[in-house]
Order: sequence, then C-alpha cells, then structure tokens
Amino acid sequence: MTEPDFPALKERFRSYALSFADTPENVPQAIRLKIDHTFDVCSITDWIADREGGVFRGRGRTLALLGALFHDVSRFRQYREFRTFRDADSFDHGEISAEIFLGDFPLEELSPPETGLVAAAIRHHNKRVLPANLPEEVQPFAKLLRDADKLSIIRIIDEYLATPEEYQEAAVRIGMEETPGFTRELAQTAIDGGQIAHGAMRNLNDFKISIFAWAQDLNFPAAASYLLEHRLYETLRTFLPDDTLMDRLLEVSLARLRNKRNERS
Ligand SMILES: [Fe+2]
Repeated sequence: MTEPDFPALKERFRSYALSFADTPENVPQAIRLKIDHTFDVCSITDWIADREGGVFRGRGRTLALLGALFHDVSRFRQYREFRTFRDADSFDHGEISAEIFLGDFPLEELSPPETGLVAAAIRHHNKRVLPANLPEEVQPFAKLLRDADKLSIIRIIDEYLATPEEYQEAAVRIGMEETPGFTRELAQTAIDGGQIAHGAMRNLNDFKISIFAWAQDLNFPAAASYLLEHRLYETLRTFLPDDTLMDRLLEVSLARLRNKRNERS
C-alpha cells in the first residue's frame, strides 16, 4: 500500500474548513481555532507516536496521523449550522466527523480495514469512555487520539489565557463566566482523582480546575511526558487564584503525571 501525501491532505483539509467561512477574507475565529487545533493534534500525535513506538511505527503512524487530521472535520459544519461546538445542542461531532471522513475524503492509499480503523478512532475520540467492545486493533488509535486531543486543548487554553484580546471570546465560547474564586468541592474532586462534569462548573476557574483532572485520564506515558516537558499545568496554575488548595491541585496532578510517565519501562 502506498503512503498518503500528508502535506496535500492537510491542504485539502484546510480548503474544506475554509469553505465554511462566509467569505475568504472573513474567517470566524471559531473556524481558525479548529484548524489550528487540528494541526496541533497532528503534531502532538506524531510526538507521542514517536516515543511510544509499538503499533505506531510505520503504517501505524500513518493511521494515527489520519485520525488526528480528520477527528474534528465535522466542527465546521457544526459551527455553520448551529453556531456552537456543544454536541448536546447540535450533533455528536465524533460520529459526524467519521461520516465526513468516509464520505468526502476517500483515500485510495488505504485498505478497507485501515479506513475502518481510522473511522472508528475518529468516532470514539469524544466519547466519555471507550466502549468495552471496541475492537482490540482500534483501541490504541482511539486512545492516542484522545490523549493528543486533550493535550492540544490544554495547550490552546494556556495560550488563550495569556492573550487578553482572545481571552473574553474564549471564555464565552466555553460557556463559562469569568467571576472571581472557584468551587472548593470541585477542586477537592480533582485532587481526589475524580472527573468534573461540565454541568457542575460555575465559572471559568472551575473549568480550568477540571482540566487538571485530566491527568488521571491519560492513556500513554508519552502523553504525560508531553504535559510535563511543556509545563502545561504549571502555566495553567498561574491563571488560578492564590490559594493553597490550588497549589495542592498542581502538586497532586504533577505527581500523577510523573507516575504515568514512569509506567513506561
Ligand atoms: Fe473533537
């Protein structure tokens, strides 16, 4: 089987995404953000695949990168039709991304089982948990995509929080108000290793706290290495109030990441 031409595919993806803007001069920030996020997930996938090796060597790396490139391809239609990225108010963007990948981007370089594997990884990247009956060969690809997606979101949020002009718009998009303080019970949940439901968050700080809880939910040691090496949690901490509970949250989260990183041996 031949290898897909990645630079050409990226360009196809970009043109597809931009076709959802009203005019080429007026590309909404939401669309630009999702294009950047997609390319970011591609490079993080590459970073993790490189360090994990195993099934991600050779052809496996190609399949992982294809999952990364198309995982959010339905976001553009979602935004144009519903003006939101909230699946609950629109459609399941994992399902629809898989559909668009299969329907609009036929890749003759892939065998039918390879195409099916990539589509399955895309379909499951946004589910709360992976179904127990997910075929074994799909699992590493779905898991890698979920890790890379989370890391990119953390990186982009860190960047946004550091850019005042983008800050407000991002806060609005996330649907969280920027009020002082945070919910102590949620911080405690994150410290104890629990995940935080979107509905339980009261402001933007609670949302940031929920991101620390993701440390518990990473699949690959190299994903933990990425977070540690890029100091993404340390940066996120600087955007939270001065409070010992926040110091504890950072400390516990970093300890979890170090444990995860050390699983590789
Ligand atoms: Fe997604």
